[in-house]
Order: sequence, then structure tokens, then C-alpha cells
Amino acid sequence: MAPDGLSLVSATIIPKDMFFYNLLKPWLGDGLLLSAGDKWSHHCCLLTPAFHFEILKPYVKIFNKSAGIMHAKWQCLALEGSTHLDMFEHISLMTLDSLQKCVFSFDSNCQESPSEYIAAILELSALVVKWQEQIFLHMDFLYNLTPNGWRFHRACNLVHNFTDAVIQERRRALISGGSHDFLKAKAKAKTLDFIDVLLLAKDEDGKQLSDENIRAEADTFMFEGHDTTASGLSWVLYNLAKHPEYQERCRQEVQELLRDREPQEIEWDDLAQLPFLTMCIKESLRLHPSVTVIARRCTQDVRLPDGRVIPKGSICVISIFGIHHNPSIWPDPEVYNPFRFDPEIPQKRSPLAFIPFSAGPRNCIGQTFAMTEMKVVLALTLLRFRVLPDEEEPRRKPELILRAEGGLRLRVEPLSAGSR
Ligand code: HEM
Repeated sequence: MAPDGLSLVSATIIPKDMFFYNLLKPWLGDGLLLSAGDKWSHHCCLLTPAFHFEILKPYVKIFNKSAGIMHAKWQCLALEGSTHLDMFEHISLMTLDSLQKCVFSFDSNCQESPSEYIAAILELSALVVKWQEQIFLHMDFLYNLTPNGWRFHRACNLVHNFTDAVIQERRRALISGGSHDFLKAKAKAKTLDFIDVLLLAKDEDGKQLSDENIRAEADTFMFEGHDTTASGLSWVLYNLAKHPEYQERCRQEVQELLRDREPQEIEWDDLAQLPFLTMCIKESLRLHPSVTVIARRCTQDVRLPDGRVIPKGSICVISIFGIHHNPSIWPDPEVYNPFRFDPEIPQKRSPLAFIPFSAGPRNCIGQTFAMTEMKVVLALTLLRFRVLPDEEEPRRKPELILRAEGGLRLRVEPLSAGSR
């Protein structure tokens, strides 16, 4: 499809199809993912600054720290003799830990000890998948009568209460600290979390987001940001476990970058100095895209570049997985070959041949956040561990995101300081 094709048609002519997304409504409210029309455009403008690189830069420290906690756990498990680990389980906790710190500045220690809030998010994500599979329960009143329905609402309340409490506390701090002076001081010290940015956000008429809207956006970031990034990271580790030659090349790139540096941490400016590792992440997102399909509803006839028309009323299910495996664009599509993304080789393919973060007006607002976190965590993981495939080959399982049946198990071997 040409860049001026379907994906760039206004978000209002081709809104998201809500059949599936409605299931998320009680949890995520009218956050960016689920809102439509004027509300979406208004919020999109207000939220874009939250993902400005000046806001994201300090989060790199958080990513280093969260990865460090996960790696310390892996070291302990290795000492006890457990080296076969489910990547999804470990990495989802780590991405949730990071998000909770970036969104709320809250440290729940969820990687070390159970957290009610994090357990509720994991339960909600699992329940939404089950609910999606039971079409006869799509009517709220039926679902609400089932034990899963009760669990869903209990977990929703817990998550909402947590977010509300943070917003209320921050509002109180704002009042006692002299309103905007408080946030300005934080902004100067570069410690703004997403809640601060949302509280600061104002449109051109000076209108701010209501508490309910802030909650919806914060809950949406927690939902959209954890599983997607965990899936991306788990699959890139799998692909590098299957291709030790690429794994070693990434490791050398990281070692070279961090040579003579203590502590061995990745900084914002390092992110552009990891070209091969970036190619490996992109090729993994092609082969194993975290989000495999998206859906849009045409509210008007839509003319494609080749003249064919998608009639008004059609629901288009766009397979990101299918686009990424199209053999006329990606020869040997099942082969993991990071050189497809070599920036030195000019690419003739359309920019729409690779859309892990979707495309057009409703693409992923969190993509720089996600790429940053994936680069930091992958670099540190390869610096500290060798990853090897498990005896059993995983089977891809597309749910809300691309998982593996029964988890994605890999072997991790700590690298001694000498062998680094
Ligand atoms: C590897 C990680 C990620 C992938 C592959 C990914 C992918 C996507 C895709 C494909 C969409 C479009 C969904 C649709 O059209 O139905 C999307 C939307 C979205 N993503 Fe991400 N995402 C990732 C990480 C994140 C993170 C870390 C955040 C926030 C912290 C985030 C926030 C959002 C939001 C708010 C939307 C809705 C945007 C809108 O409708 O305007 N995502 N993402």
C-alpha cells in the first residue's frame, strides 16, 4: 500500500472497530486507545508532550534499574540451579515495574515481592483474553453474573482506586506546594512522571484534563505498555538464542560501548550507538510482532491507490503479522535476518511494509518509550547473560499480544565478569 493510502486516511473516516475494544472499556475508560472523534484528537494533542524525548530521557535510569533487579533474580535462580526461565513471566513483571515508576513514580518492589496492584493488572489482562474468546458473554450483564465477571470488576476497582489515590495525592501536593511552581521545580529537576505531565497538560484555551481523564490515560499506558514491550523483548531474546552468531555480535557492540565504564549502565546518548542491536530488535518485531492484528471500520467508501474501493460499513482487519510475512516484500519471510534493517543498505520497500507500531494517525504513541526500554534491557541482558534455546520449540500464540503456548522458556547462563 502506498504511504498515501488507507493508513493515512483521517482517523475519523476510519475509526477503530470497537467490537473487541469494548471489553476494555470498564478498565481503560475513554483513554487514548479507546476514545474516538474529537475527544481522541483533543487528548492526542495533550498527550503527545508526555512522550517528548526530554520527558523520556530520565526514564533510561529507571529501565537500567528495573533490568538490574530482574538480572539479580536470574543470578540467584542460576545459583540455585534454575536456568530454564519463562521470559514472559519475568519480563512482564519488569516492564510493569518500570511503567509504575515512570507513570506514577511509585516503587511497589513488585519484582521482589507480590504487589496487589500489579497482580490486578495481570489478572485483568488474562481475563480480557478469556472474555474475548467467549462471544456469548460479550453482553455486560451476562458477564457480570459470572465468577470471572466479578473478578474483573474487583480487579478494575483495585486498579482505579490506586490511580485515583495517586492523582488525589498529587493534586494535594500541587495545592500545598504552590500549584505550578511545584511542577515547574520538578520539571527543572527532570523528574516529571506521566501523571505530572497529564496534570500540566493544557489546550490552547487553557482547559485541563479532568481527574477521570487522567486516570483513563494512566491506566491505558499501564495496559498498552507492559505486555507489548514484554512480548517484543521475549521474542528478541528467543531469536538471539536461536542465532548465537547475532547474539555474540550484539554483545560485542555493547561491550565495546561500555568499555571502561563503571557502573555499566546504558545512557540516553548510547541508544544511537547500538546499530546492530537495533537491527536485531526490528527484525524480531517483523518476525514476531507484539500486536498481530488491528481493526478499522470504514464510515465512508475508501478508495485505495489502485482504484479499488472498500465500501462504507466494512470492517477491515489488518494483519500486521501477514504484512510482515509477505514473501513478495520479505524473501524467506520465516528466516531471522537482521540485515534486512541495515541502515547502510538503501531499502526499496514501502515504509508500510513494516508496521509493528501500526501507522497513520492512530499509531502507537509509546513507540519511542518502548524502543528505548527494549534497547536498554536487551543490551544489559546480553552483557550479563548468554541466552540459549530450550529443548522444546515454542509455538506462537496470538492473544491480545503475541505470546507462546505455555510460556516462552529459554536457558540463561550468567557470564562471569572475565568472560564479558
Ligand atoms: C513493543 C512495544 C509496543 C508495540 C509493539 C505497540 C504497538 C501498538 C499498536 C500496533 C498500536 C495500534 C493499535 C490499534 O490501532 O488498534 C498501539 C497503540 C497505542 N499504544 Fe502501543 N505498542 C507498544 C508499546 C507501547 C507503550 C510502551 C505505550 C505507553 C507507555 C503504548 C501506548 C499506546 C497507546 C496509548 C496507543 C493508542 C494510540 C491511539 O489510538 O491514538 N504502547 N501500540
